Amino acid sequence: MSELLATEKPGADPIGARRTFAIIAHPDAGKTTLTEKLLLFGGAIHLAGAVKARGENRRARSDWLKIEQQRGISVSTSVMNFEYEGWTFNLLDTPGHEDFSEDTYRTLTAVDSAVMVLDAAKGIESQTRKLFEVCRLRDMPIITFVNKIDRESRDPFDLLDEVASTLALECVPANWPVGMGHDFRGCYDLFGKRLLLVGKDNKNLEPEVVILDNGLDDPRVADYIPEAQLAKLREDIELIQGACPAFDVEAYRQGHMTPVYFGSALKNFGVDELLKGLGRFAPPPRPQPSSARMIDPREKPVTGFVFKVQANMDKNHRDRVAFMRLCSGHFKRGMKLRQVRSGKPITVSNPTLFFARDRSLAEEAWPGDIIGIPNHGTLRVGDTLTETEDLRFTGIPNFAPEILRRVRLSDPMKAKHLQRALEDLAEEGVTQVFRPRLGSDWIVGLVGPLQLDVLAARLAEEYNLEVGFETAPYETARWMSADDPRDVDQFVEQNRANIADDRDGAPVYLARNAWELSYTEKKSDKIRFHATRERS
Ligand code: G4P
Repeated sequence: MSELLATEKPGADPIGARRTFAIIAHPDAGKTTLTEKLLLFGGAIHLAGAVKARGENRRARSDWLKIEQQRGISVSTSVMNFEYEGWTFNLLDTPGHEDFSEDTYRTLTAVDSAVMVLDAAKGIESQTRKLFEVCRLRDMPIITFVNKIDRESRDPFDLLDEVASTLALECVPANWPVGMGHDFRGCYDLFGKRLLLVGKDNKNLEPEVVILDNGLDDPRVADYIPEAQLAKLREDIELIQGACPAFDVEAYRQGHMTPVYFGSALKNFGVDELLKGLGRFAPPPRPQPSSARMIDPREKPVTGFVFKVQANMDKNHRDRVAFMRLCSGHFKRGMKLRQVRSGKPITVSNPTLFFARDRSLAEEAWPGDIIGIPNHGTLRVGDTLTETEDLRFTGIPNFAPEILRRVRLSDPMKAKHLQRALEDLAEEGVTQVFRPRLGSDWIVGLVGPLQLDVLAARLAEEYNLEVGFETAPYETARWMSADDPRDVDQFVEQNRANIADDRDGAPVYLARNAWELSYTEKKSDKIRFHATRERS
């Protein structure tokens, strides 16, 4: 099947060798375990460390994840960079909790493809579906990894059917499990026609994998797979070859087809194949939409956008790190870039690239890479940085919050302090803040209920602020536009009781309920109401 390999080996082309991706999964499907194994295969962490960490009932995690662990909740996006067989991977971790957050969405704007992890016993779950829909908005190529096949699982054909019918994605199995649960013997690699089997030495945490390169023709097959199971495997393979379409890299890259890897992150099955699949099939850095045109990664001038700001990485230093995805050009340390929003130059003298175990100084970076830029609050989510041209990357929106709450301070003397804290956290995307035109309380807007707990915890821990939340009389918010901007001004004037300003000073219409919103929309035919706002 070598014709299906889009990129056999990346060679010396640093852009072509980049694969920037995220893992999407419902909590508990095995995202952390798979991340750990990908890093292990990529040589970014060492087995000894992982085993030790496991002994302490902790997994090997990046420094950032440790911070999250201390906080007890996953609030940030971490970036892991590793190399494997000539490819350079950037793995962006998406927050794994139940809530869909803006943070997750924005992380997905910074990747070129995704790996969707399913629990083999459960198939598609609610969070998988939500995250998948975000990926689909961007026609993102998806590789599916069906995890935990070493446990009792659903029938693999059933799982393929579910992916195909609920997500409208054509499925092509890349490998096939030989038995499941207690009878699990390994996987048949359909692309390479090899067998990867459970070895005899199965006591270790990282079990032995025996590879039979001649697949089913290898005379040793019988030593590993009982006759009945072998017959079933042959039958399954025949069925797959008859029923599944051939793998088509273009269809995958356009987001219509998904290669499906069955495996066990815990037992190392399918992980190596998945990494190879990512290298061969996943797209290199894709052109990015901007206000001027699509920006090709091979354009010479450096451009990038900030998709995440993390404040208070270190409690002793009020520093922030802006995460910039490089979209074009060859970035070198010390380069002067312009923040398009303010027109101000920024010298990037101490950028960081993220590795699993430490943050090291980046001397250079290529499109697809993520650079951490320490700053004192000048850089915001959505900011474009460029070397020359005045353009703005698009598609990194604010979302209309689904929950609006008034913030009440237990100590009213700390109002100024609260304002600064809320602005900080709004910059990180933890919350949105609105200042009503009438009244003095701040209103926070959130996309999911868990963010409320995160907000309260971080205000207490990092800013020493005790706050309570009260139900605001509003249920939803909309940004506004009109052909003639004076119509918006007039609308704002006439509806002052329902107007607040967002963090950038843009007016927002706050509606008490869906009925009021729809009534106002009908009544105000010159105004367009938006559930998202492009960041300016
Ligand atoms: P998440 O990040 O998606 O939430 O999932 P995570 O990796 O934490 O995995 C959730 C649980 O599933 C963990 O068990 C993990 O060990 C287990 N798991 C992950 N991959 C596999 C697999 O391939 N096979 C099997 N059998 N189990 C797997 P736990 O008991 O919650 O945690 P732990 O005590 O093992 O760390």
